[in-house]
Amino acid sequence: MKAKRVRYIWIPLIIIMIVVPVGFYYVKWSESGAGAGLYSRLWKPEPIFSYWDPDNFYESVKTMTGVFKGKECVSCHAAVTPGIVNDWRKSRHSQAKKIVYCSDCHGHDHQNLHLPTPKICGGCHTTQHADFNDEKRFGFPSHALAMDRAQDAKHFVDKPKAEVTACLQCHSIATKCDSCHTRHQFSVAEARRPEACITCHSGPPHPDDETYFASKHGQIYLAEGDSWDWSKPLRKGNYKVPTCAYCHMNRGKHQVAEKSIWKFGLKQVNPLTSGNEVKREKWVKLCSDCHEPDWARQQLTKMDAERKRAWKKLYAAEGILKDLRSKGQLYPSAKQRPPYPTDSENSFFQMERIGFFEGQASAFYNVSPIERDYFNMWYFDNLGAYKGAAHGAAEFVRKGHAAMDSALENIRRNANVLRTLSEAEKKAGIKPEADAFWKQGEYTDYNRENN
Ligand code: HEC
Ligand code: HEC
Ligand code: HEC
Ligand code: HEC
Ligand code: HEC
Ligand code: HEC
Ligand code: HEC
Ligand code: HEC
Repeated sequence: MKAKRVRYIWIPLIIIMIVVPVGFYYVKWSESGAGAGLYSRLWKPEPIFSYWDPDNFYESVKTMTGVFKGKECVSCHAAVTPGIVNDWRKSRHSQAKKIVYCSDCHGHDHQNLHLPTPKICGGCHTTQHADFNDEKRFGFPSHALAMDRAQDAKHFVDKPKAEVTACLQCHSIATKCDSCHTRHQFSVAEARRPEACITCHSGPPHPDDETYFASKHGQIYLAEGDSWDWSKPLRKGNYKVPTCAYCHMNRGKHQVAEKSIWKFGLKQVNPLTSGNEVKREKWVKLCSDCHEPDWARQQLTKMDAERKRAWKKLYAAEGILKDLRSKGQLYPSAKQRPPYPTDSENSFFQMERIGFFEGQASAFYNVSPIERDYFNMWYFDNLGAYKGAAHGAAEFVRKGHAAMDSALENIRRNANVLRTLSEAEKKAGIKPEADAFWKQGEYTDYNRENN
């Protein structure tokens, strides 16, 4: 009896002692390829990645030799890259009491240059760098973790290079500080304006650009913004309507994640948890720079209601797909499609991944038409409606929900077709085969060889 009890302790203990180091070893191994992140062995960096993610990929040019003082960099580069030198001359860096030279950011040795990562800027701008790093506390989405998020996304690794190179251009927000105040002026006035954000925050999965400019705030900015004094900080009383940074980086805090309740709409969160109530009060306080607090609170309640309505529709669609899956009625089924390169461990047990928590990669391509309808509904219609509600663009809410309604209708109708077909086939004793395209489409073999 006693010996048995002891065994209950030491057997699991030995298993843990083996599994944990093996797990660590496996993750280390899988991160050790030419790329970066969890799937580094499955992709190779493009040359441009050295600028977007310098810590991982930058190697200094070797064509120039010599160790130079700051002034020498400027005088030679006035001929080599005059635009850069002009911008630098206009910047606060060149006008500071202790001038910040090229070499302060890039190093002195021309054969051993570096491109400044947030850490290097942080050497002088500790507050901004600390705020920025602090975002990691809030998890995804956030600027500080954006590069990991893209490189560790299965569809980044699975898809052909030509289609995913641009991911890192936007997600480089994590790996350098010049996305909003661009090099080499590093102007704060530029960063305060919405144009600083919309190079990345636009398009169907994140139509922040489109919804902001469709809102009253955006329209007033368009009508009057050019005559405002953008040298003023984003504080109460300085601006008539808020810009992106006014709301998301209030009081210059380099921290866009701390107030986020709905988190990219990734899952149905409970907006009334105590953590979310704290965030809500932060929003209300912010809106109260210009609006009545109660009025602002109601705007946020309206957003919650929109989200609940959207999730009801998404769950209805998910329910239909899961029902088809459980009866083996999806066509072509996951087993009739090739597994994704990153899903090789799942090739023994292939199944349709329905909903974002069963796996994103499989939702993006090589899926049956009805799964694709659901993907469009989730990713484009739903997220459009969300951003419409968040940013006060009523037309986006209306359009998004109308599109979700019709997608749901389509999914219902097509599900009935699939059911009828599958029952008829069963009666007739036919086993449907998927045609070769599904196995050998361009996102399969081609892709494995070209990433
Ligand atoms: C005598 C002229 C000269 C001086 C002095 C000089 N550079 Fe350059 N620099 C160049 C040239 C030419 C290139 C382009 C090299 C190439 O692309 O092969 C260059 C390229 C660069 C690049 C781009 C590297 C890349 O990978 O894109 C940076 C950054 C740079 N220089 C910074 C500096 C800094 C900092 C100093 C002072 C420490 C400096 N340079 C001094 C001539 C000079
Ligand atoms: C405050 C920091 C800072 C200073 C000062 C600075 N740079 Fe840069 N530089 C950057 C950043 C940030 C990048 C973008 C790095 C990246 O893409 O990863 C960059 C990129 C570059 C590049 C390559 C990209 C391009 O646009 O061609 C060159 C060349 C360059 N700098 C030259 C200079 C020269 C010359 C000076 C001095 C006149 C200078 N830099 C001063 C921060 C600085
Ligand atoms: C060697 C120290 C140093 C480094 C490194 C440095 N800065 Fe600066 N930065 C300064 C100083 C000094 C000022 C001017 C402050 C003042 O005049 O009050 C400044 C000002 C600024 C401003 C305000 C500009 C404005 O319009 O008011 C921004 C934005 C900025 N830096 C961004 C950056 C970024 C981004 C990097 C990294 C690519 C960087 N800095 C690297 C020292 C540095
Ligand atoms: C135009 C710029 C842009 C491009 C290109 C881009 N993204 Fe994003 N991505 C964003 C923005 C902005 C968000 C955040 C949206 C939000 O929070 O509402 C985002 C969100 C995400 C998220 C979900 C956020 C989270 O943390 O849960 C993932 C995962 C992601 N992107 C991966 C990728 C991959 C992989 C690619 C390439 C196929 C890509 N992105 C291409 C700008 C971009
Ligand atoms: C270079 C591209 C780029 C620029 C410029 C940019 N962002 Fe982002 N932003 C992203 C990406 C990528 C994500 C999603 C990161 C992830 O995958 O987790 C994101 C996420 C966000 C989020 C979501 C954070 C959360 O917790 O929900 C907010 C809010 C945000 N950005 C605001 C802004 C604002 C405001 C500006 C302009 C002042 C701006 N961004 C400029 C790329 C950018
Ligand atoms: C998402 C956009 C965005 C990114 C990324 C960003 N900044 Fe800023 N930055 C801003 C905005 C907006 C302001 C002006 C804030 C205000 O008006 O209060 C600003 C202001 C600054 C200032 C001037 C502060 C002052 O009080 O004058 C410095 C310094 C600065 N940023 C450094 C950095 C550093 C270092 C990084 C990288 C860790 C960085 N920024 C990344 C948007 C950004
Ligand atoms: C009036 C303030 C305001 C302005 C202006 C504004 N936003 Fe927002 N934004 C919000 C609110 C409120 C949310 C909902 C956040 C939540 O769920 O807590 C939101 C959501 C977002 C999100 C998604 C955050 C998440 O986690 O889901 C991103 C990204 C974003 N905004 C970017 C932008 C960009 C880019 C601009 C400018 C083009 C902008 N916003 C303008 C208030 C604003
Ligand atoms: C810097 C000032 C400022 C801030 C901060 C601000 N707003 Fe506004 N907002 C305005 C102005 C000015 C108008 C246009 C006049 C009006 O309708 O009050 C407006 C209009 C609106 C409208 C359209 C009003 C209508 O009746 O159609 C909505 C909705 C709105 N704001 C929501 C918000 C929310 C929610 C927040 C906080 C997340 C916020 N605003 C933060 C200044 C601001």
